[in-house]
Amino acid sequence: MKSLPEPFSASIDKIVGHKRMRRNRKTDWSRRLVQENFITVDDLIWPLFITEGQSKVCPVPSMPNVHRYSVDKIVEQAEKAANLNIPVIALFPNTGPSKRDEKASNCVDENNLICQALRAIKSEKLPVGILCDVALDPYISHGHDGLMEGETILNDDTVALLCQQALIQAEAGADIIAPSDMMDGRVGAIRQTLDLNGFQSVQIMSYAAKYASAFYGPFRDAVGTNATLKGDKRTYQMDPANSDEALREVALDIHEGADMIMVKPGMPYLDILARLKETFKMPTFAYQVSGEYSMIMAASQNGWIEKERIMLESLLAFKRAGADGILTYFANESAEHLKNNT
Ligand code: PBG
Repeated sequence: MKSLPEPFSASIDKIVGHKRMRRNRKTDWSRRLVQENFITVDDLIWPLFITEGQSKVCPVPSMPNVHRYSVDKIVEQAEKAANLNIPVIALFPNTGPSKRDEKASNCVDENNLICQALRAIKSEKLPVGILCDVALDPYISHGHDGLMEGETILNDDTVALLCQQALIQAEAGADIIAPSDMMDGRVGAIRQTLDLNGFQSVQIMSYAAKYASAFYGPFRDAVGTNATLKGDKRTYQMDPANSDEALREVALDIHEGADMIMVKPGMPYLDILARLKETFKMPTFAYQVSGEYSMIMAASQNGWIEKERIMLESLLAFKRAGADGILTYFANESAEHLKNNT
């Protein structure tokens, strides 16, 4: 080993001068004092899956600790969210295979799973908002988010159907409509439909920058579209290679009337999140999607990582990048943690 200049600490002093970054990190109280970002329960949106039947709680194999609940059981989960002070739950249906067709007819049936769940939860008058996805995939036989003619996903015909879907969800009590389909013009069309029908105060959270990602795999198991999906979603969801394009997508959605915008997936797209927040200063959300959740769960089940620390670190990373909130399958667990540790 080469000899160090003497005395060594004097030479480090020369390099750092008065500036020692570690001073503020020295103690717990000091770290708390200088902490820039925080995760609180108010940042959380909890996605929940609904299934047909009575008294059903079925595990989703590719998403450990995540279940599909029948309508009677989903009410208990909504109560749990309210007790934990989680502001919003997001509902996703696993429509029975016999109810899926080429026209996604069930999406506009006011007795479909989503509307049943909305009415059941709303009748409890819980202090929790309900967000509903608007897209055709859980209702359509080929698993795409839009109507198909040959190989083509039809934009405008799909938008017309999405407007009706949004309307019956608003009628059943949805507080936030979240178009996740990536058709052009859908935010404006849905806004107009809601307004014309007296739902001016129903909010729109647009999946504005939604990428054609392989991270959605476990979600497609949960809603039962993996088995049926033909091809991929690259003619409507964004190319993971693009960043400027996300600015244009978001600008359009804001112009069309979105109240809040979302980036999806989450952690691999923090650069997009940061750019969008910096540029538009909108209420901006990140979706920590199923694949991100399942990777963390799988690694922790193998004993390779510490789940709780990674869960909290990943949520904090979204806040640091500029998110106002996060859709996460860890919402219940992190809310419980935050309740017990603050
Ligand atoms: C449906 C939809 C998807 C997700 C939310 N809404 C899947 C998709 O676009 O194929 C993904 C959520 C997740 O992976 O957790 N339009």
